Amino acid sequence: MSAPWQQRYAQRTQRMTSSAIRELLKLTSRADIISFAGGLPAPELFPVEQVRAAVDTVLTEHGTSALQYSTTEGYPPLREMITRHMARYGIKVGIESVLITTGSQEALDLIGKILINPGDRILTETPSYLGALQAFTMYGADYVSVPIDDDGLETSRLEEALRAGPKFMYILPNFQNPAGVTLSLPRRRELVGLSDRYGIPIVEDDPYGQLRYEGQHLPPLVVLDAELHNDHQNGRYRGGVIYLSTFSKTLAPGLRLGWVVAPTEVIQRLVMAKQGTDLHSSTFDQMVAHEVARSGFIDQHVARLREVYRRRRDVMLQALEQVLPPETGVRWTRPHGGLFLWVTLPESLDASRLLETAVEEKVAFVPGVCFDPAGLVRNTMRLNFSNASEPMIREGIARLGAAIIGHVSHRPVAAGARVAVPLP
Ligand SMILES: Cc1ncc(COP(=O)(O)O)c(C=O)c1O
Repeated sequence: MSAPWQQRYAQRTQRMTSSAIRELLKLTSRADIISFAGGLPAPELFPVEQVRAAVDTVLTEHGTSALQYSTTEGYPPLREMITRHMARYGIKVGIESVLITTGSQEALDLIGKILINPGDRILTETPSYLGALQAFTMYGADYVSVPIDDDGLETSRLEEALRAGPKFMYILPNFQNPAGVTLSLPRRRELVGLSDRYGIPIVEDDPYGQLRYEGQHLPPLVVLDAELHNDHQNGRYRGGVIYLSTFSKTLAPGLRLGWVVAPTEVIQRLVMAKQGTDLHSSTFDQMVAHEVARSGFIDQHVARLREVYRRRRDVMLQALEQVLPPETGVRWTRPHGGLFLWVTLPESLDASRLLETAVEEKVAFVPGVCFDPAGLVRNTMRLNFSNASEPMIREGIARLGAAIIGHVSHRPVAAGARVAVPLP
């Protein structure tokens, strides 16, 4: 007898959907496809030797404790290091306000677990990070969404959305995934002021803040909020922001290490929720990350990442300008950091259909509809520029440009239709 699984799934499991796009994107791992789809760091820059040396030191000096269970809150020396690192960005908290998570993705799930009842509304930017939408949707979230422009969340539209009574706001202030835009300082202040006035907390997701390629660092929302409460001096943050960051983009995503900063009462709830999920993040990985970072290595490494990613961003922007002149009606953002830019096609084009042609042309991207909580906007796409080399970016944008021009002019892509992008 086969098990009657269909009747056994929870209601939330029925909210999980597989999509045609996801199936199509599976193809993008093929070696012959230039993929701008994933959000992957450049693998050739992973600090393999530093990690190897750190693994050796950890096993030699702390072998037994590295392989043992440990506390849910995280390895104290790593939490202390994180507090010192964040103080440089104005986030001044003690280690009791810091929880280590298995990547920021786990933090998003734990936040859903402790805050979201089925039917609760979550305020998001449109577009927003797909992984957060997936995590929150599992807990039964509905969405109130506010559009973004080149300065991030359109705060002039925020008050009306707040009147819908969202449980919390989920905001990506720096080099937003997927659109690459950054929330301006006046808007940051306005957002934090409105959060305070309406008593609606903010989840600030900041995986990319350190990957800035131009312009001035802007204060995180958690810092502006602490100033409002004049409460950051004693290191006990009691405000309305839960701040998330990660080692995924500055060290290696395979280590699966992120962290949360929040008022201690929220940290305590997250700790209880995490115990049910994984007891604690890998002791061994936390010790290795601490060992790699101890000497200040991450600062040098991030400086190198900035250099390489800035060039890749510039190459992608240049190539787009060359293959898609203004008369095609295609526009894109010019991110000051992070890993992504966002392309808006003429309204009549559907990026999901374009992806089919693009995959035939051996280039891939993620259609913007995946990042829209309402699943409505059809004519946008996200392009990643960190994972491909400069020549591959040029070649990939040439292929993509040909596919787009084919769709704009309703013509199939003819052989030789590619706009040549010169090598330097
Ligand atoms: C905005 C955002 N939040 C969270 C994550 C998850 O990152 P992690 O690898 O730390 O789980 C990502 C990963 O790309 C991201 O872009």
